[in-house]
Amino acid sequence: MTNQKIILTGDRPSGRLHLGHYVGSLAARVELQEIHRQYVMLADIQALTDHAHEPAKIRESILEVALDYLAVGIDPKKTTIFIQSLVPALAELTIYYLNLVTWNRLKHNPTVKLEIQQKGFGENVPAGFMIYPISQAADITAFKAQLVPVGDDQIPMIEQTVEVVRKFNRLYNCSVLVEPEAIISTIARLPGTDGKAKMSKGLGNAIFLSDSADVVAAKVKGMYTDAGHLHVEDPGKVEGNPVFTYLDAFGKDKVKIADLKAHYQRGGLGDSVVKKYLLEVLQAFLDPIRQRRESFAKDSSAVMNMLFKGSDIAAQVAHQTLMEVRDAMGINYRSYF
Ligand code: TRP
Repeated sequence: MTNQKIILTGDRPSGRLHLGHYVGSLAARVELQEIHRQYVMLADIQALTDHAHEPAKIRESILEVALDYLAVGIDPKKTTIFIQSLVPALAELTIYYLNLVTWNRLKHNPTVKLEIQQKGFGENVPAGFMIYPISQAADITAFKAQLVPVGDDQIPMIEQTVEVVRKFNRLYNCSVLVEPEAIISTIARLPGTDGKAKMSKGLGNAIFLSDSADVVAAKVKGMYTDAGHLHVEDPGKVEGNPVFTYLDAFGKDKVKIADLKAHYQRGGLGDSVVKKYLLEVLQAFLDPIRQRRESFAKDSSAVMNMLFKGSDIAAQVAHQTLMEVRDAMGINYRSYF
């Protein structure tokens, strides 16, 4: 295939994945694996930068996230799925790249700044957390990834990676590292069930891919709609109404959805009717995912072995890049003596 590109993307294993992950990244991965050479990484080292006190949670999440991947159709025959810490070259690359970035630049990464605020670190930011964008630059460049499908919060990471690539290639007068490009999902964000801008585990407003049918039903029933839609006959708002956003994202019958929207806006359509339809749509989407997840979960050592195999492949590729990096820097000492 002539247009085949190298793709790398990943998730921090710090909990199960939800519908927001599906819309924002998983759906694209399932398609991209048909066209490109795709690597998907479980970023456990990155997860440790703010979870050093709970490594067990990360270990358990690695299996959960891998099950989510398999359940949605990321296929290990087409995608190399691997664990970050099983690829030692990534840590070594990070250390070399850190010399190419200033402390001041790290402090101004907007996503890191926001996360420091959200996590309430104040002055006590773990040093490993401050530098994780550079570790992410190592992840991306080790595989010479050209495309990185991510949510819009990750754009600053790709920008920093491009800076590292340019600086490295210029400083060592080479073209070893490849500049990546972000692919941003068209629906970059799915709102939470509470109507907040982002679905997030931390906000308690997420529907997980592994939620049982009963749990999904309860979550849909409790969803935020339009605070001004008090009586059935009142005209309701569709914009900013997460029930309709979810229908747009997961519903197949676009004509029916358009009709429901028009009716809701006119007035005379109750929230419970729309929610009942949304529940049907979500169960139809989630049922096969749940079934596949359950069947993979029966043999967790097979799932872990798949990850170990992927990690062996990834380790070889990253090691090759590391050798090219050391060559370019002139520190492959054995080649001098
Ligand atoms: N920072 C990403 C996230 O929080 C995870 C990640 C780590 C990643 N390394 C990556 C994503 C490399 C893309 C490429 O979701």
